[in-house]
Amino acid sequence: MQPRIRVIFAQQENKNYMKHCKLTLLIITFGLVMSSCGGAENQEDTNTDAPMDSVVTEVLDQHSYSNVAEVKTTHLHLDIAVDFETKMLKGSVTHTIENLTGSENMIFDVHSLDIEKVVLDNGEQTTFEIGEFDELLGNSVTVALQPETELVTIYFSTAPDSKALQWLSPQQTAGKNEPYLFTQGEAVLTRTWIPCQDTPGNRITYSADITVPSQLMAVMSADNPTEKNPEGKYHFEMKNPIPCYLIALAVGDLEFASLGDRTGVYAEPSMVEKSVYEFADVEKMIEVAEELYGEYKWGRYDIIVLPPSFPFGGMENPKLTFATPTILAGDRSLVSLIAHELAHSWSGNLVTNATWDDFWLNEGFTVYFENRIMEALYGKEHSDMLFSIEYEEMLNENSAILEGDHPDDTKLKLDLIGRDPDDGMTAIAYVKGALFLKTLEDAVGREKFDVFINSYFGDHEFQTLTTEDFVAYLNENLLDPNEIDFNVDEWIYGQGIPENSVKIESNRFDLVAEISAKIPTMEDVASLGIDKDAWTTQEWMHFIRQSPAETSADKFVLLDETFGFKNCGNSEIMAEWYIASIKHGYDGIDADMEYFLINVGRRKFLEPIYTELAKSAEGLAQGRAIYEKARPNYHAISFNTVDEILNWES
Ligand code: BES
Ligand code: ZN
Repeated sequence: MQPRIRVIFAQQENKNYMKHCKLTLLIITFGLVMSSCGGAENQEDTNTDAPMDSVVTEVLDQHSYSNVAEVKTTHLHLDIAVDFETKMLKGSVTHTIENLTGSENMIFDVHSLDIEKVVLDNGEQTTFEIGEFDELLGNSVTVALQPETELVTIYFSTAPDSKALQWLSPQQTAGKNEPYLFTQGEAVLTRTWIPCQDTPGNRITYSADITVPSQLMAVMSADNPTEKNPEGKYHFEMKNPIPCYLIALAVGDLEFASLGDRTGVYAEPSMVEKSVYEFADVEKMIEVAEELYGEYKWGRYDIIVLPPSFPFGGMENPKLTFATPTILAGDRSLVSLIAHELAHSWSGNLVTNATWDDFWLNEGFTVYFENRIMEALYGKEHSDMLFSIEYEEMLNENSAILEGDHPDDTKLKLDLIGRDPDDGMTAIAYVKGALFLKTLEDAVGREKFDVFINSYFGDHEFQTLTTEDFVAYLNENLLDPNEIDFNVDEWIYGQGIPENSVKIESNRFDLVAEISAKIPTMEDVASLGIDKDAWTTQEWMHFIRQSPAETSADKFVLLDETFGFKNCGNSEIMAEWYIASIKHGYDGIDADMEYFLINVGRRKFLEPIYTELAKSAEGLAQGRAIYEKARPNYHAISFNTVDEILNWES
């Protein structure tokens, strides 16, 4: 017996939601068809006489207008020029389409794009209608098709403030000589730079011809150049089908350096050496990942180190992870982020969440897998510390969400109807998701669990899955055969953390906490007895986090004099130190913190620091004064978050 997925499509108006928003309803039928059954593979996709044992799942993407259920893109070709003067991308996108139901219209998503004209494969212009604008979802573009249409070409240009694009002045780069551009598609931002069917439920291959100023190099989530082209012309191919949130582009004064047979790094020239040092273990990470969960399916794995305004730590753009330079600590202590983005090459990029309500399938699996890679490479003591850090954060966030307006956001399966998918980017999807998998692993044993995860990836490669699909697969392949009774529903559809969660412990962290408890009463720093050279970044972070509430500011003065946290160059330690210092009223950090906030745009750091500042009137004033200078350096993703924290009106 082989599971076969058949997709039946329909479209409906959802009256509960924004009235202009057409929603896509995909009904995926898990038909269990005998593999020997002749002709089964050729059944019509609309055939509804499913076998008795089939499970019907409705997939509703609340965040796309597109009608992929009727007519969908299978390949997209981008032909654009990058203009730094006007901060615009201009050109065309040609969609190769598959018209599943003989639809007369194809619906695309756009946001802040200027559509000049739409041309079909016969070379003739066709009519199109632009729907009402919604701040989050943008507009639908309904294009009239002919029965024989195979290609739809949309001529368009982007707006200078397109949310997916960050245009950097030379001043905002490491080299200070050339401008820079990068894109960020996940979750619903690809529509702000490419007219497309912007749902993770549809996979496409893509190609691109990109023209850039001749002194710059362009790279994408595709096969990449290693040298600049003297005419600034680059051609790209992505031959594996991907969801369109993974289409990505970066343009800048880039240089390539090899790390290993199939790995390398792109960075501005002054950052290359540091990056090569930091990422020395990447080739090994791939080997370890493959040993765990099967072949790496994407050919090369490269990393681009972006300027510090990149709003995330990393983004798993296939073949080319986009990474913040704030992980270049100089001692390789923050490379678990690379393990994370690499792990997405399986969880997320190979097997993708069908909607943003299923986001935990991408991130929970990835955090679990990341931790396994780190354990295999650096040992359990180290991976336990890494997970403990995230675990603590998650428990705090879980409590905060439970007390807030959306306690259901502590469920793994989300309901983000009418909300920004970004709201689902909490530690719940990441760490509760990983904790669920760790607890399952604990229940069945690692050996069986690894076999299961292996076949999960293998059986669903280049497919999209809902949470319900996963649960069905889990029951059928792991829990039922092993006769294990597990509270899956409570984990997925219940709030908070179930009682049977595995306990996350780290012996080394326990020792650190004991030392930290002595800070308020210490005579001098030496009396704490810290073995400075033996401590890892994570131990320093834990030490700072655990500093007791009653610690007076003068103890912070002593600690900073001894350890120089405030400008130690390790972004994670500095961010922890700034947060703790604000809490404890230690203002010796002010100049360094201001420098950090002006230069670093990574939201994960900005959010807690500005939040801590905003807790007092004085701090808020200080935060706003810094933000005035820093905001122009931030990506829209980051400044939208900070605007809210500081009540900023732009
Ligand atoms: N895919 C995410 C980034 C993302 C999520 C972008 C949702 C937009 C919407 C990426 O893999 C990620 O999780 N990055 C983390 C780092 C990781 C080590 C937890 C980040 O940027 O902080
Ligand atoms: Zn991730």
